[in-house]
Amino acid sequence: MSSAEPAAFPFAESTTVEGAGARYRQLRQNQGPLPVRLPHGGTAWLVSRYEDVESVLRDPRFSRELAGDAVSEVMPSLLVRTSLLSLDAIDHDRIRACVAPLFTREAAEALRPRIRKLVRARTDAFPPDAHPFDGVAAYSLPVPVDVISEVLGVPAADREQFYLWADLAISSDALPAAVYAAHDDLLGYFATAPKQGADQPSAGLRTGLARMVDAGRLSHEAAVSLLPLLLVAGYETSVGQLGFYLLDLATRPEHHAALRQHPDRIPEAVTTYLRTVPYNVIGGALARVAREAVQIGSVTIAADETVIPSVEAANMQTLSMSSRPDHLSFGAGLHACLGSWLAQLELEEAVFGIASGFESIELAVELEELRLKEGSVVRSLQTLPLLARRTTDH
Ligand code: HEM
Repeated sequence: MSSAEPAAFPFAESTTVEGAGARYRQLRQNQGPLPVRLPHGGTAWLVSRYEDVESVLRDPRFSRELAGDAVSEVMPSLLVRTSLLSLDAIDHDRIRACVAPLFTREAAEALRPRIRKLVRARTDAFPPDAHPFDGVAAYSLPVPVDVISEVLGVPAADREQFYLWADLAISSDALPAAVYAAHDDLLGYFATAPKQGADQPSAGLRTGLARMVDAGRLSHEAAVSLLPLLLVAGYETSVGQLGFYLLDLATRPEHHAALRQHPDRIPEAVTTYLRTVPYNVIGGALARVAREAVQIGSVTIAADETVIPSVEAANMQTLSMSSRPDHLSFGAGLHACLGSWLAQLELEEAVFGIASGFESIELAVELEELRLKEGSVVRSLQTLPLLARRTTDH
């Protein structure tokens, strides 16, 4: 590792509403991997060039499995061993192959009508026009929770408890023991889930998992540990994203009006949001550890050194690239987001719910008053005071 004094990572600006964009723009000029200092005292290489980020994500020489100790992980909550995200090649692929059919584009599309209804129930519950309300509590939080609970077959009565466990499970400042305990609680809750869910019409995923367990294609333990991962991975990020999309619609009325008039433009708008709205404080993907020496540009990453592939920096670079490659917000390679179709679809439906149901939404406070939720790896607004004006036919 270089002798230069490494910058502290995660960058402090990532925990502000503005984000660390300016910091990442500076990085772009210095394209090679940059040494950074992690909260646990370890060091890592921050990789920021688009091509390098994509190649780290796809390169099996960089292991998630090895990134499981305090000095190589970025935050305590990320130390928790979760199925899929902390496994390499063969074990990973075996589990992923079992659940992948449940998360295809077609499977997500089949849920669209149900998701539209869930979204509509939330917009119907907004207060009358001219009454300020919190867009996070009324919309950006409950919509993704409704969706993932629907997929996992979590009854409405249990959802409150779920926020608490899931919140703790991805907390960036809770003690590691509390984070582990929250994961255990989630595991405990789901311990019998594959069997229990089999007869519930809403529990498509659990039913699917149960079938795979029964057919001997997936172990009971693997099925059980997948469920909390899906819950946590499957809603917090969407909650954070949706809050920022609402903020954009509230502060750019012309954008809201354009999407209202042309709902067919919503999928592209969501793709742009995904490219430009940073979703966590670690710059996107999780840390990897090199299994052997790997050359990235002029830097040799030695075996056992940690690498952080910065999706946020890579996405930002695509904005000035004439070829405009795909954003990397859903990762790439082995660990590419399993829920990407579901996430894209629920975010489209959530934006559609606002664009079609409301003439306008407005911020009910000054922009400077907004704060991020504290102590979470995921970037999400604490509250979003809004005023909404319904369309006459809503
Ligand atoms: C806007 C929403 C979302 C974003 C931005 C997002 C982003 C990501 C990223 C970047 C990764 C790869 C992490 C890495 O390689 O270090 C990932 C993995 C994963 N995501 Fe998502 N995600 C979202 C929503 C969802 C949803 C809705 C689900 C599930 C229902 C989900 C389930 C997963 C799972 C299971 C993995 C691990 C895959 C594996 O290791 O094979 N995500 N996600």
